[in-house]
Amino acid sequence: MAGDEYERMLQAFAVAKSFLKQQVELGFDEVYAQVKTRKKSPAPKSLDDFCDKIKNCTKCDLGYSRTNFVFGTGDPGANLMLIGEAPGREEDLQGEPFVGAAGKLLERMLEAIQFKREEVYIANILKCRPPENRDPRPDEIETCKPYLFQQIKLIQPKIILALGRVSAQVLLETKSALGQLRGRFHDCNGIKFLVTYHPAALLRYQQYKRPTWEDLQLLRKEYDKIEVSAG
Ligand code: URA
Ligand code: URA
Repeated sequence: MAGDEYERMLQAFAVAKSFLKQQVELGFDEVYAQVKTRKKSPAPKSLDDFCDKIKNCTKCDLGYSRTNFVFGTGDPGANLMLIGEAPGREEDLQGEPFVGAAGKLLERMLEAIQFKREEVYIANILKCRPPENRDPRPDEIETCKPYLFQQIKLIQPKIILALGRVSAQVLLETKSALGQLRGRFHDCNGIKFLVTYHPAALLRYQQYKRPTWEDLQLLRKEYDKIEVSAG
């Protein structure tokens, strides 16, 4: 519900409540029904709170076809956040991002640059699986994106790695090809932002392996810099 709609509802409640109170004061006590005015829910303080708040989302059709809402996993205080596209079949079944074949490869990629999966935070652009793993639709992306942005706000990563074309194009707000975007850091509101090929693409196309390896090394170098400067 939009903020102003909510305010109007609160106002309507207040009017109804004062009317009913008046009735009671006039002696019509059986009319009085307790009208609870719900406080506007406060901004979530933690990722868990936030997950609880949104996990039953049905703002788009995917909310009706999903098995599980896939919020994200990892260290809520991570300096490095990985952002994929959308849950696939395994992710939908298990409720965790990157637990299928692409996820296994992602874990090996992380290991190759000395990261454990638990040390980073992993999420997706979409929280629910598109049927048959079709591409996310623009309206689904627009509807779901604020959830990811709130996650980023709560986690405050220093570096974001976008995995694959969809994630890169959505987050950098561009139509440029992945090959043009990878290989260097972009600045995204003070967050260092790198994009590389999606592990699912690596499983299919050998030729993406070398550039991805270069991106991963670049990532590790930059990460070590911030670790050092943070003391
Ligand atoms: N592909 C993605 O983009 N995200 C997942 O969570 C799994 C596969
Ligand atoms: N094309 C894609 O869709 N994803 C990649 O990661 C690379 C090319």
